[in-house]
Parts: sequence; structure tokens; C-alpha cells
Amino acid sequence: MFLLAASCACAQAPSGSAPTGVTMKQLMVDLVYPAANDILLFISRGEPRNESEWAGVRRGAATLAEAGNLLAMRAGTRKGDWTKDAKLLADTGTALYRAALAKDAKALMAMADALDASCTTCHKQYRPDIFPAEGGSK
Ligand code: HEC
Repeated sequence: MFLLAASCACAQAPSGSAPTGVTMKQLMVDLVYPAANDILLFISRGEPRNESEWAGVRRGAATLAEAGNLLAMRAGTRKGDWTKDAKLLADTGTALYRAALAKDAKALMAMADALDASCTTCHKQYRPDIFPAEGGSK
């Protein structure tokens, strides 16, 4: 009985922490970066060549759109443009997803710079220590 009561008390996560335990860095490395990379790969090759490649673009784009929403929820105590920057990623992901749904290769190719900018806009402000002077989202 006592043990049961005690185990209930420690089930609470510390306030303000991410409920999943996935850190911001892990979100970037394991979710956001691979999704962006998949899309850029198809763009750099020319264009998606078959249904499976378009599905890859849709997967990446949907991931970026939802990651933008997720980042907006993780504003925490950050000041400045965090929410706006996160929304830019969500909007870019949404536009990419629409292009992929329509299999509009021209629209997709035209969005490479916007995709890069959706990363660097936030990194410039919130990751200045690592941000490469020459730009880019790596
Ligand atoms: C709303 C803000 C925001 C957006 C948008 C964003 N990032 Fe990040 N990113 C960060 C922050 C903050 C860090 C630093 C995380 C840390 O080290 O704690 C980071 C770090 C990274 C890292 C380095 C992780 C490491 O190894 O230290 C990569 C790679 C990365 N982001 C990729 C991307 C890509 C690609 C995009 C765009 C598709 C993107 N990010 C969009 C906020 C953002």
C-alpha cells in the first residue's frame, strides 16, 4: 500500500521539461535534419522520379511541417522571434507538402532556398555559436 502511493508521486515530469525527453539537439539531428536532407537530395538530383520518391518528399515535408509546430510549442522561456521562426519552418514544410501532393516538380525545385532559409533564420538567432559564417544549414 505504502509503496503504491510512493510510486504514484514520482510519475510527474519536472515542470518545463519536454515530456518525451527528446532534447532540442536530438530533434534537430534525428528528425529535422534528415527530413530536410531527403528533400534536398531529390531536388539536387533533378526531380523525384517515381511514386516512391514522391512519397519520400511527402514524408520529409510532412515531418518539417509538424516539426515547425512542435518547435513553436517548445518556445519555453526563449525571447525574440522563436515562435515566428518555428512557424516559418511549419509554413515551408506545408508548401513543400502541397507541391509533393501535386507532384509539382517545378514548385519543389523552386523551394530549395526557402527550405534553407527556414533553418538559417532560426539558427542565426538561437545557434550563433555554431552557425557557419558562410551560411548554410549544416
Ligand atoms: C525555431 C528554431 C529552429 C529551426 C526552425 C531550425 N532549427 Fe536547427 N537548431 C535550433 C537550435 C536551438 C539548435 C541548437 C540545439 C542545441 O545544441 O541544443 C539547432 C541545432 C541544429 C543542428 C545541430 C545539432 C548538433 O549537432 O549540435 C542541426 C543539424 C540543425 N539544427 C538542423 C536544422 C535544419 C536542417 C533545419 C531546417 C530544416 C533547422 N535545424 C531548423 C533551432 C532551430
